[in-house]
Amino acid sequence: MNIIKLANEVEVAKKAAEIIEEEVKQNRNAVLGLATGSSPILTYQNLIKAFKANEVSFSDVKTFNLDEYEGLQPTHPQSYRYFMNDQLFNHIDIKIENTYVPEGINNVRPESYDELIKENGGIDLQLLGLGVNGHVGFNEPGTSFESLTSEVDLAQETIEVNAKKFFNGDLSEVPTKAYSMGLKSIMNAKKILLIATGESKAEAINALLNATISEDWPCTILRNHKDVTIIVDSEAGKLI
Ligand code: GLP
Repeated sequence: MNIIKLANEVEVAKKAAEIIEEEVKQNRNAVLGLATGSSPILTYQNLIKAFKANEVSFSDVKTFNLDEYEGLQPTHPQSYRYFMNDQLFNHIDIKIENTYVPEGINNVRPESYDELIKENGGIDLQLLGLGVNGHVGFNEPGTSFESLTSEVDLAQETIEVNAKKFFNGDLSEVPTKAYSMGLKSIMNAKKILLIATGESKAEAINALLNATISEDWPCTILRNHKDVTIIVDSEAGKLI
């Protein structure tokens, strides 16, 4: 596992974007696994900058997003489809039909998602954020390490954190279910890049690296993968 500790979120985003750009420059048909949440926003801004400076093209890239809230239409500002279009896809030259979100509303049904990823050659590089409880995607503590893409229940802690960050603190607005790539789906990626910033992630980062590998901390499964890079800022990395 390659662990990179940098000063702050700006540095983390710069490094993460460089790694993604490099992947796409090496292989213009790259298949990227993408994440939502606050963590990747700055990274996506750097990718947009690189595209606008003609340093990289996404015209032949395909993307598969990790997860989606159940019941939020793509036009809902807190849906992950909306987030991806707004934060990245609308600003680069990717073909929107080459971007997938597991949603079941008007994109791929969760039960076909892993098959579709496979048909496209598998994910070359999977970007991940990290939940404060160690979730990756929406795979909450207790999720089987064998899980594939499916409908999942959100942990109360996740609902509370996401209500505060994205739903103006209104718990009743946060869906209680989601569709998520499973832990096995994530482990099938050829390379994994996880980014975490801020003090709230310190415990989960410590667990990822040092806790017993178990379903209590879903992120510990990443220690079984042969090509993982973890980039943290000084706060998220303060216990390691
Ligand atoms: C969310 C998402 C995850 C994300 C994580 C961290 O609930 N489902 O994919 O990585 O929690 O979110 P954030 O980056 O906002 O801290």
